[in-house]
Amino acid sequence: MENERYDLVIAANRLPVDKLTGPDGEVSWRRSPGGLVTAMDAVMRGRDGAWVGWAGDAGDAPAPFTDNGMELVPVPLSAAEVADFYEGFSNDTLWPIYHDVIVPATFHRSWWAAYKTVNQRFADAVCAVAAEGATVWIHDYQLQLVPAMVRAQRPDVRIGWFDHIPFPAVELFAQLPWREEIISGLLGADFLGFQRKADAENFVRACRRLARLSTRGEHVQTVDGRVVRASAVPISIDTAGLDELARTPEVQARAREIRESLGNPKKILLGVDRLDYTKGIRHRLKAYEELLRDNVIRPPDVVLVQVATPSRERVEAYRQLRTEIERTVGRINGEYAAIGSSAVEYLHHSYGRDEMAALFQAADVMLVTPLRDGMNLVAKEYVACRHDGDGALVLSEFTGAYHELKSAYVCNPHDIEGTKRVITKAITDPVRERRKRMKSLRKVVGAKDVQTWATNFLAALEHAPHRPEEAEDA
Ligand code: ADP
Ligand code: G6P
Repeated sequence: MENERYDLVIAANRLPVDKLTGPDGEVSWRRSPGGLVTAMDAVMRGRDGAWVGWAGDAGDAPAPFTDNGMELVPVPLSAAEVADFYEGFSNDTLWPIYHDVIVPATFHRSWWAAYKTVNQRFADAVCAVAAEGATVWIHDYQLQLVPAMVRAQRPDVRIGWFDHIPFPAVELFAQLPWREEIISGLLGADFLGFQRKADAENFVRACRRLARLSTRGEHVQTVDGRVVRASAVPISIDTAGLDELARTPEVQARAREIRESLGNPKKILLGVDRLDYTKGIRHRLKAYEELLRDNVIRPPDVVLVQVATPSRERVEAYRQLRTEIERTVGRINGEYAAIGSSAVEYLHHSYGRDEMAALFQAADVMLVTPLRDGMNLVAKEYVACRHDGDGALVLSEFTGAYHELKSAYVCNPHDIEGTKRVITKAITDPVRERRKRMKSLRKVVGAKDVQTWATNFLAALEHAPHRPEEAEDA
């Protein structure tokens, strides 16, 4: 595909597949983790376009290649850039700031320098494959300078950016020493999409207060006389695909098998997360342990399956979290498990789509308890897999998903007593109540899928304003 140009180019830090090099040098590919890849993989399979991203290991990038009909354009990162741009600035500076500083953010000027260098490399790669007048869709917090860098080289293209994670309150964003550069980087786009209205508003407020720009409603007036729109376009999932998958005899048989192998408990509770401190796994385990202690639940009647996908394992806060979670799981099992019946089944692995669908089918109660989450696709995936109309979703009010899925069993994960009450209600509610809630959740998840999201985003980008005269001081 050398010298090929595309009318649609997307850029995300990760490609949908990760390159793995075995001890004997042999190369294999594995699906990359996270919600961004789940969503964009589904979107790009139906469209013609190129995906610019990192292949997940340090060193030279592989040549561009086609994967399942998608054109992938790898961008190289050196080992130092993986440490400074990816683990450092992206995941130890921006990630904590954008998630309410659940852990402290670390600031290093050398990490910022690497962030700029790598963003420029992504921008160059995008410009090299974008056709005249192309649509360029940039993703997430790792690439916030790319919109302006692409615009500087290619005023002919249309540029959109979508924020998969929260956008922080101005008081938190203000901590970043490079806040104005980040605002200018983003304002290189024609349209900026966010998960929630509140995220878009936080961004517009940051433009007004920190960059002293004029704003009106969703519109920001840039110093070069353009108007950029910032608006909520909440992401979704491949609802029909998952629904269909969950109905297959294979997935249903596997769900029964999972139940049997857990000793046919009366209630299976399930958590599925990247092992990330934003996901509230510690709070969830605390509530669960106290329910066991209080004798409200007990194995073998109830078991919690916690799937924790390995994530960012070289970042200290993630290492500490893993140690703490594994210690807690050990303590809970030591105290409450019996031979052949665990209190917590802990799985530190990634699974395929079929196995995930079977787990969702098998789970009577799904625990989605993040302290902060842009959307949380797992909540929507669980609902999509419950074609039987049963199952209970316990959902934190600090997720983007909560704003659409208000019929869930809603909890504040910081409130351990409250969370215990909500979990108990989800376990003990009569089937009629559960079904009523699930019906309403399925209506929401069925109405807007990931293709609707992509279509809405691209339409908003297409119609983004070019009318500087309309912006005034808010
Ligand atoms: P995040 O993007 O922060 O990881 P989301 O809930 O939005 O959180 O998206 C996570 C995605 O990764 C979902 O599509 C989910 O099904 C998938 N996933 C999570 N854990 C696993 C796992 N252990 N194996 C396979 N897929 C997983
Ligand atoms: C979240 C972020 C993505 C990121 C994913 C996995 O979904 O929004 O940008 O790719 O987590 O994290 P990782 O650091 O492994 O890419």
